[in-house]
Formats: sequence, structure tokens, C-alpha cells
Amino acid sequence: MVFYFSGSGNSYYAAKLLSEGIDTPLISIADSLKKMEMNFDARQDKVCGFVMPVHFWGVPYIVTEFMKNIQLKTNDDTYVFVVFTCGGDTGQAPKQFEKMLKQLHINLNAVFSIKQIDIFVPIFRVPPKDKRNEEVLKAKIECENILMHINARDNGDFNLNKNKLAYLETKLLYPMYSYYRNTSKFRVSDMCTACKKCEKICPLHVIEIIDNKPVWKKKKCTLCLACLHICPSQAINYGKVLFFFDSKNKGRYRNPYAPKGY
Ligand SMILES: Cc1cc2nc3c(=O)[nH]c(=O)nc-3n(C[C@H](O)[C@H](O)[C@H](O)COP(=O)(O)O)c2cc1C
Ligand code: SF4
Ligand code: SF4
Repeated sequence: MVFYFSGSGNSYYAAKLLSEGIDTPLISIADSLKKMEMNFDARQDKVCGFVMPVHFWGVPYIVTEFMKNIQLKTNDDTYVFVVFTCGGDTGQAPKQFEKMLKQLHINLNAVFSIKQIDIFVPIFRVPPKDKRNEEVLKAKIECENILMHINARDNGDFNLNKNKLAYLETKLLYPMYSYYRNTSKFRVSDMCTACKKCEKICPLHVIEIIDNKPVWKKKKCTLCLACLHICPSQAINYGKVLFFFDSKNKGRYRNPYAPKGY
């Protein structure tokens, strides 16, 4: 089985290619948490993967919650791997995740990462279409490489997107994630048409459309930015107006293979 979490579809795309490549079910972490279906058995499959984005050089909040609640059965011969998608580098996200598995008495066999479009538009700008398509193609090739390692049951750290300063990055910046998960930082413009796409896509069901506008009902969320990127009117923004930490005019992105139907 391959578990995944994804905001804009980058991790979903990789997880889907990998689950199809090894012929194993694809399981949404967000859906499992919503239904509180937390019992899984990977013993027959003999392979168990996790695919997720890097958030603030660490593991996304929603995945941390999932790992606290999961009941996962594995054997000594279950091959366990993790794949992080990132815009730059992973920091110590793989180490954090390995610790979470250790709590469950599960050993991590292999670590991979795939560089994709950085969806953190409060800082980065979405690149032009040709660059976006190029990144999607590169991600597909990277998944084929990862599949070769998985099929060979290779053990080791195959993370190509790590930085010498990973320890410092995570130590200094991951603690800031909690502060930036404050939903008070979202704002909605008059361009909102009350289409409800943001409400439907939110993996933590934090958004409700009230009086034809989204309202964030909880103080904090997982900051996946799915709501912001899916809005067809670009009505949702995050960050301080006219401050460098602002998503306005930075573009919007959803992986072309992201799930449809919102
Ligand atoms: C809140 C947030 C924080 C992020 N932090 C990092 C980071 O620390 N390092 C990095 O390389 N990319 C970072 N990114 C970029 C994502 O990891 C990257 O775009 C990823 O492919 C998104 O995958 P998804 O569409 O499956 O959510 C961040 C994105 C978000 C939304
Ligand atoms: S997705 Fe955009 S337009 Fe649709 S309800 Fe949400 S904010 Fe409004
Ligand atoms: S409110 Fe938006 S950013 Fe926060 S978890 Fe929901 S979809 Fe993700």
C-alpha cells in the first residue's frame, strides 16, 4: 500500500505512479483521517510507502496527526519507503518521519525525494507553463528511478534533494510552521463566486461557506494551500498585504494530474 497526502497534487501524482508501478492500493491520508479508518495491514503486500510534501523543512502537520493514530501491521520482510516532494530541499523531514515510524516499531528501508513546482506562493512565484510541464516530466522520470529501487528492494538514503545545512534548516524553521498555520492569515477578495471548491478540497474541513464567502472555522490548519490554489477566481490570498510574504500576483498551481471533481 502507498499512503499519500497532497495539497496541489504533486505528491498525489508521484504516489499514483508508484502505487500503479508496484501494483498496490493508493490510500489517502486525509480520507483515512476523516473516516477515522486507521487500521492497515501491509503484511501480505510486503511493501508500504508514504508520499507527502515537505512543509517548513519537516513533515506536514496532518501526516504527524495520522502517524499518531495509525495502527499499521508489518513484518520483518515488509519493505517500507518514504518519498518527499519538495520545491527546494527536504531539510530533516525524512529523519522526522523515520522517528515517527520508530515509535510504531517499524524500520524505514529507503528515503527518496522529488523536486517539483514549489507551491508556497506566499514567497515563490509559479513559473511559466513550459517550466511547469518540464518539472512534471522530470517527476515522472524520477518516479521510474524510484520504482527501480523499490523493485530491487534497495535499502538506503536515495534523497537527492538534501542540503548540508539540513539540520539547521529544520531546527530553526520547522518551529515557525506552527505560527504560520494560523488561518487568520487567509483573506478573501470580492472575486469570490461562492463556488465552494475551497470548502470541498480542504483536507481538515476547516472551511465553510457562510453568506457566500469562505470562513476558516478553526484557528490553525495544515497549510497545504490546496484552497488557495484551487480557487478559480484567485480570490484567496495568504500573508500580509504588500509585504514580501504575500501570495498576491504570484500565480496559482495544481499538478495537471491532480484529482479532479472539486
Ligand atoms: C506550507 C508549505 C511549506 C513548504 N515548505 C517547503 C520547504 O521547507 N522546502 C521545500 O523544498 N519545499 C517546501 N514547500 C513546497 C512543497 O513541498 C512542494 O511544492 C510540494 O511538491 C507540494 O506538494 P503537494 O502538491 O503534494 O502538496 C512548501 C509548501 C507549503 C505549502
Ligand atoms: S474557491 Fe474561490 S470562488 Fe470558490 S468559494 Fe472558495 S474563495 Fe470563493
Ligand atoms: S484551510 Fe486551506 S491551507 Fe488550510 S488545510 Fe484547508 S485547504 Fe489546506
